[in-house]
Amino acid sequence: MKVSVIGCGYVGLVTAACLAELGHEVIGYDDDPGKQAALEAGRLPLFEPHLEELAARHRRSGRLRFRREAAEAYGAAEVLFICVNTPPLPTGDADLSALGRVARYIVAYAPPATLVVTKSTVPVRTTPALAARLASERPDNPFQVASNPEFLREGTAVRDFLHPYRIVLGVSSKTAEKKLRAVYQPLLERPFHCPLHQPCTEPPPPVVVTDAVTAELIKHAANSFLALKISYANALADLCDLCGADVEKVVEAMGLDPRIGPQFLRPGLGFGGFCLPKDVQAFYRLAERSGYDFSLLWEVDRINQQRVTRFLDKARELVGGLGGKTIAVLGLSFKPDTDDIRFAPSLAVLEGLLREGARVRASDPQAMEKTRSLFPGVAYTRDPYQAALGADCLLLLTEWEEFLHLDWSRMGQAMKRHLVVDGRNCLDPAVLKASGFTYRAMGRPG
Ligand SMILES: NC(=O)c1ccc[n+]([C@@H]2O[C@H](COP(=O)([O-])OP(=O)(O)OC[C@H]3O[C@@H](n4cnc5c(N)ncnc54)[C@H](O)[C@@H]3O)[C@@H](O)[C@H]2O)c1
Repeated sequence: MKVSVIGCGYVGLVTAACLAELGHEVIGYDDDPGKQAALEAGRLPLFEPHLEELAARHRRSGRLRFRREAAEAYGAAEVLFICVNTPPLPTGDADLSALGRVARYIVAYAPPATLVVTKSTVPVRTTPALAARLASERPDNPFQVASNPEFLREGTAVRDFLHPYRIVLGVSSKTAEKKLRAVYQPLLERPFHCPLHQPCTEPPPPVVVTDAVTAELIKHAANSFLALKISYANALADLCDLCGADVEKVVEAMGLDPRIGPQFLRPGLGFGGFCLPKDVQAFYRLAERSGYDFSLLWEVDRINQQRVTRFLDKARELVGGLGGKTIAVLGLSFKPDTDDIRFAPSLAVLEGLLREGARVRASDPQAMEKTRSLFPGVAYTRDPYQAALGADCLLLLTEWEEFLHLDWSRMGQAMKRHLVVDGRNCLDPAVLKASGFTYRAMGRPG
């Protein structure tokens, strides 16, 4: 099928490359001139495991192209996926201005009977409102409009796209359902020739077919529930700190119950990134405007917002004041295996450290470039041992694999004082203790 993907960020690029992998002819379009230039030059403007190989393969196969001309991208589409950003407004509501610009181009350029699909995370009723707008502005053109929320996670996005837990189709007609099923059909067949792991023995994903409003609500409900699990674990961590209990044992034992499950029951610095923080707020606002007091979500957000304060309190207390101290920071991206720093806890940590007059040296495998433009006063080095040189304290903010296997006796030689605060509870306290470190974590006895 001829597919256009509008918005070539984390979701759009993965969608475009994976749909090319499924055999479709894909055109990607982004209205950011910097991204257009990078894509035209054959570079990706972001880091995501496996994406570069997949995109390069399908540029070569001719199934994946990027275009600067909106008319070309919109004009070619049988199915048009909207993957533009929906950032939070100061009120917490989603900013739908990018979607509004897309609507104008659909009206101007899209051919008759294009299936328009919202993949961006949008508030409930956005897709029907888009359908109504297109129908009123192009009464001659019977656009189909559907919702197909995306559940991929940065860091494992290609895998998640090709092996989703479920595919949700929010449609208002059998024609739209049939077309969307055809887009995903190769994923639903067995054998499926997955480029990541052959042979693919996993069962095909379930397809949930519903109306657009329900599909939009499913996405918000799922993300907010994940955020709730994280905040629950973080509330437990604070309680464990007060009681002298070990939160890691608490969540381990809880997670062994299949009704609860271990995933996302992770205490630490809290959730960040471009999805959970904004989606929880947007869902809360949507509920409020719909007449439902979803204060449970307000609490989820409040607990999350306190994480960095708690973490900095621990660091300040351990070091004996942060002003004038040298602090090594390991990890800047909001999670491992991505260069994304949007709403990353690291940003608030860096801000707090600099505000209190600390000298900061930071290291991250992928996110230093993006962080540097926001915090030019921080010294950056790719080598974690270099970051630790002469440091009074080391703060671990992101659980990148390489940080889990550091040589702590070498770290000890590099650092001035042997102090570590682990914001992700991912280091082994016994190993640190054996290397002469004083170790603090979130809800874990030192
Ligand atoms: N990042 C994730 O993990 C994730 C997962 C699931 C869903 N989502 C949702 O998907 C959407 C996109 O997220 P993202 O992380 O890919 O954002 P992003 O910022 O990485 O990408 C969005 C892209 O859209 C482009 N854009 C904006 N307006 C445009 C327009 N009118 N025409 C063409 N391009 C335009 C931007 O330049 C940007 O490159 C959001 O609604 C987000 O909530 C994100």
